Formats: sequence, C-alpha cells, structure tokens
Amino acid sequence: MNNAFDPLNPPPRRLMGPGPVDVDPRVLQAMSLPLLGQFDPRFTEYMNEVMALYRQVFRTTNHWALLVDGTARAGIEAVLVSVLDPGDRVLVPIFGRFGHLLCEIAHRCRAEVVTIETEWGTVFDPQQVEDAVKRHRPKLVAVVQGDTSTTMAQPLDAIGRICRAHDALTYVDATASVAGMPLETDAWQLDAVSAGLQKCLSGPPGVAPVTFNERVEAVVKSRKHVEQGIRPDDYEAGTGRIIQSNYFDLSMLMDYWSESRLNHHTEATSMLYAARECARLVLEEGLDNRFDRHARASRAMTAGLTAMGLDLFGDQEHKMPNVTGVHIPAGVPGDAVRAALLDDFGLEIGTSFGPLHGRIWRIGTMGFGCRRDNVMTCLAALEVTLRRFGHTSAPGAGVEAAIAAWDA
Ligand SMILES: Cc1ncc(COP(=O)(O)O)c(C=O)c1O
Repeated sequence: MNNAFDPLNPPPRRLMGPGPVDVDPRVLQAMSLPLLGQFDPRFTEYMNEVMALYRQVFRTTNHWALLVDGTARAGIEAVLVSVLDPGDRVLVPIFGRFGHLLCEIAHRCRAEVVTIETEWGTVFDPQQVEDAVKRHRPKLVAVVQGDTSTTMAQPLDAIGRICRAHDALTYVDATASVAGMPLETDAWQLDAVSAGLQKCLSGPPGVAPVTFNERVEAVVKSRKHVEQGIRPDDYEAGTGRIIQSNYFDLSMLMDYWSESRLNHHTEATSMLYAARECARLVLEEGLDNRFDRHARASRAMTAGLTAMGLDLFGDQEHKMPNVTGVHIPAGVPGDAVRAALLDDFGLEIGTSFGPLHGRIWRIGTMGFGCRRDNVMTCLAALEVTLRRFGHTSAPGAGVEAAIAAWDA
C-alpha cells in the first residue's frame, strides 16, 4: 500500500497507448536543470531558440512559433479563442473524438459551428470539404490531422489550398501527428497549427507548440487588448472585439514571445526546457528519417497483428503510422487483456472512446517509444495474453511477421 509521504516510485512501464508515451531520457534530464528567471538573458535566448526550432519542426517560415502553456488542448483553445469572434462561422470536418473537441471549444467561443461528419475509421475526400466550404463560407476550417481516437490521418495537402481559394483560414490540430508523419505547414498553406509534446515529440504533456502566419496574426492583432498594469506607453488597443480569454490571448502571448517581453504569464520554465530538447531530438534525427521510422514500425506492427489472426481497424490507406487500431476478437474481454498486459509485462496499450469503446484497442509506437524492441515485445506479450483469454495463434507468428516487415 502506498503512503502519500513515501517518495514517488512509479513502476517501470512501456507506454504503448495513444499517448502519453515514454519520454526520451534526454528530455527528462533537461527538465531537471536549474530554473532561470523569465527575463534572464539566457532564458529569453532559450525562448528565441525554441521559436527557431519549432519553425523547423512545423516546416514553416512563420515568425510565430511559440509555446502555449498547458496540454495540447491549450494550443487548440488559444488559436480558436483568439481567431473566432462570437458569431463567426467555423467549419469542422469530424472524423473522430478530437473533431468533436474542436467543435466544443469553438462553441464556447460563441462561434457558429457547422460540421461535416464521416464514419469513424474513415477520412474525408477533399471534395467533401470543398463542397462544405462553398456551402457555408466559414471564416475558419478547423481540422485534426491525426485523430488518435480512430487512428486515422486526414490528408491535408488539398484542404489548405481549398480554404485559401475560398478565403477561409485553416487551423490544424497536429497534436498526435507532428514529428510522426509529414506535416507541411507552409507547403500545404495551413494558417495555424498546434501540437502537444506527449506523442511523437517524446516529451511529457504540459506545453503546446503553436505556429501561425500573418493572416492569423492580422486577425489576432485586430483584437489586441493588453491588461492594465503592464500596458506600454505607446499602447493602442485593437479595434476588434476583445479576446474572451486572458490566458489564451495570442496577442499578449506574441508580446511575451517578442522583444517587448510583456510579462503575460510566467513561462513554465522546465516545460520550455523539455520542449527545446524534444525539438532538438527530432531535428537531430531528421524529420524524414523520423517519419520513416514511424512508418516502418507501423508496417511491422500491422504485419504482426495480422499474422496473429487479428483484424485491423479502419481504412488502412489512411491509418496514422504512429497508432494502430485493432479489433478486440469476439468473446475476448478487452479490459482484462489490457490489465494482464500491464500486470504481467508492465506494458500499456490503449482502450477507445465513443462508438469504438470495447471494440478496438489502440497501440501506439510514437517518438522514443517507436522502436523495434517495443513492437516485438508488445506482439509477444499480446500473443501469450490472448491465448490465456481464448484467442490462439501460431506461437511466434506475430513476432516473426513483424521482424520480417521491419527488416524488409
Ligand atoms: C488529436 C488530439 N488532439 C488533442 C488532444 C488533447 O490533448 P491534451 O490531452 O494534451 O489536451 C489529443 C490527445 O490525445 C489528441 O490526440
């Protein structure tokens, strides 16, 4: 029995769910470094370095690439509340739980939310998005890139272009996909993109990298309102309506992340260290190499699961490379299998939400956790565990198929 006064001693785990996943030890090390004051010249240099690093991670020349403190939804909320005036129309193509989250946040911004929906396990044809954009004429199209709830990845290359052609802004939630699969902010004409650290970036949850271009900056600046007590002498408020949230006001965050260093909040020092190290790790490996590693793990995992007689979930052509959905075999108790994997192997895989609850497991191979040993260990552990619960497959078949796919 644990006592609250005992030192923390989390059990060793292999986190192979849809996130959070195991943090790279270099990131943990960075987080243990001494704090600096937020206006210490070394710290403000770190802030500038973080901007430079995330421009590369997002593949953008946008000036603005900064951190919003809070988990990934803090980044979503900062973009939506700063861009959407009450009454503005936003179109959300929903293909999983996180599309619903975008709607929920946009509703709270008092926006007029219009949606198109596709069955969980599928994605949209760009034509469907274009038709909806023409029909509804939204100010903003908000879309998820990789929705971990369904393990599907929405192709975005055409969507940014469609929105630009119809004068709508495009916002992308890339929380679960950034650094795990291609994301081309500039080439795909995405106006704002936000992310989180806890998936393919190999960091802990707690900070949301966000980038946006001049089109978004113009909207945000028109709503600029600096809180009293820190207003500079030359302060002029924007002519637009005040942004409803203080914490997520991108106009004040821009001042904090610029040379004026307006003291909005106290930057989460250790999380900034973490985010900096995450980006360094990604860029040292190279984005394309990292995408290849995730794709290879996906091929190995899906080959292994299939060789074990399991059915993969969803449209495999649009599967995220870093998460795999697999049907729970008939008669097998999904939660009991997960509990046994945790107890016997210290290995966590994910359950699922909404219409998929009890129907599929979700297995993550992301960032630091996207490794050959993780894929093989997971398949071996799943094979013996499933046998205990009545689903048998040829011994070693899953691992053998995965090794062959990994090495191909
Ligand atoms: C696509 C997507 N968006 C948003 C979130 C929410 O992130 P957070 O829980 O860090 O706020 C998640 C988390 O799984 C996600 O996968």
